[in-house]
Amino acid sequence: MAASGALPGLFFCFSAMVLLIFVSVSSPTWNSISFLNANQYSFGVFGYTGSKVQVGYYFPLPGDINTTVLHNLTFVLILYPIAAGLSGLAVLFGVCGAGYHRVGTVFMSLLAGLATLCTFVAWIISMSLFGTVRNRLRSNGIGASWGNANWLALGALVALLIGSCTAACGVFGRYRRPRN
Ligand SMILES: *[C@@H]1O[C@H](CO)[C@@H](O)[C@H](O)[C@H]1NC(C)=O
Repeated sequence: MAASGALPGLFFCFSAMVLLIFVSVSSPTWNSISFLNANQYSFGVFGYTGSKVQVGYYFPLPGDINTTVLHNLTFVLILYPIAAGLSGLAVLFGVCGAGYHRVGTVFMSLLAGLATLCTFVAWIISMSLFGTVRNRLRSNGIGASWGNANWLALGALVALLIGSCTAACGVFGRYRRPRN
């Protein structure tokens, strides 16, 4: 018998996990998912169209977007796969919460909270990073447009916010009592 209190949190953590996995397999692994598109390049978490898969990268266009500061900020994008992992763990504990014991739901809400924090920081940084790159490219006359990964990540952030709240509420739902 499932403890239904754990199910809403489980649902939202699962959705967030799926969205964050999509964000993490962005360019260069899957070029249809990117944060920014410019000059035939699409930029993702681990690189850009045609680059190798790497943590932290230099922007491949000469001029004021190939700077150390922007390079260092690309390392922070690793928070997306980390948040995906934390959401995945939250889902695992949520399954235990729904199937067996309240403690699973407690851990689901803690992990979902942690994943929310990671996603929030990652989203703020990636929006400012790619926003800066976009503005600088545009002022150099190079067309640059936002990619879909920003909105997938925002969706994951919202799902995690709802997920951690509903998971926390789910802790106080009805669970099987141990026989005594
Ligand atoms: C960007 O900067 C790095 C390090 O300074 C350099 O190795 C690379 O060739 C530069 N790329 C371009 C396209 O200017």
